[in-house]
Amino acid sequence: MTSLTEIWHMSSEICGAPKGEFSKPPSYLDFYEKNFSDRRNEALKIIEIGVFRGQFLETLAQYFPNSSIIGIDQLPDRVHTQSSNITLVKGDQADREGLRAIFDAYVPDGADIIIDDASHVAELTQSCFEATFPYLKSGCDYYVEDWATGYWPDWPDGRRFAAPTFSEIGADGFPTRRTSHDFGMVGLIKSFVDLVGAPEKLQVTGLSSLQIIPGIAKLTKL
Ligand SMILES: C[S@@+](CC[C@H](N)C(=O)[O-])C[C@H]1O[C@@H](n2cnc3c(N)ncnc32)[C@H](O)[C@@H]1O
Repeated sequence: MTSLTEIWHMSSEICGAPKGEFSKPPSYLDFYEKNFSDRRNEALKIIEIGVFRGQFLETLAQYFPNSSIIGIDQLPDRVHTQSSNITLVKGDQADREGLRAIFDAYVPDGADIIIDDASHVAELTQSCFEATFPYLKSGCDYYVEDWATGYWPDWPDGRRFAAPTFSEIGADGFPTRRTSHDFGMVGLIKSFVDLVGAPEKLQVTGLSSLQIIPGIAKLTKL
């Protein structure tokens, strides 16, 4: 059976990607393959937000032949795909109402997989997460790609890495507070820990686990 990585490479010509272009690291494709392989033949509803030329859309469409793949991008005219199980919709990840309208129209019964590979800017990523996570079905996964932009000094909300420190000495003399790099997407991904660890304090429920690998965070819904 053709692997996700093989399909990704085969899709590059269909989508008009320059030969050898680095756009999705092999480790991402391996991670997705591990997570997707059990459900390959199911009829799923899969949403990708941020599709560029459509190379991952096409990859998903061929990898999940019985599923519907919905791609959302603010600039959808650059997409070149050929699989008939792809639907492309124009949308902005910062537009909560617009996203809700898209999800209501295309996945009224919920989504099985959501992948956010759009702006990689924390505020927009958080807004998109808050608007669309409610549509994810129970037990299913929401992926946020490229969160390391928070370490990039030249990214709009990134900053050069600063080593973490302990501060605020408690009554027993131990430093109580660990302050760590919390810029942009790095700060956002770290804040998802609170959704797992302190849901009652935030008065939210819904996140059962958070898995972080270099470049991808996977949030699993209760
Ligand atoms: C890294 S590319 C996506 C690559 C694609 N997922 C792939 O692997 O083939 C990022 C895409 O996100 C889109 N994007 C950026 N900001 C966006 C926003 N606020 N709303 C919707 N799409 C956005 C860009 O137009 C671009 O096509």
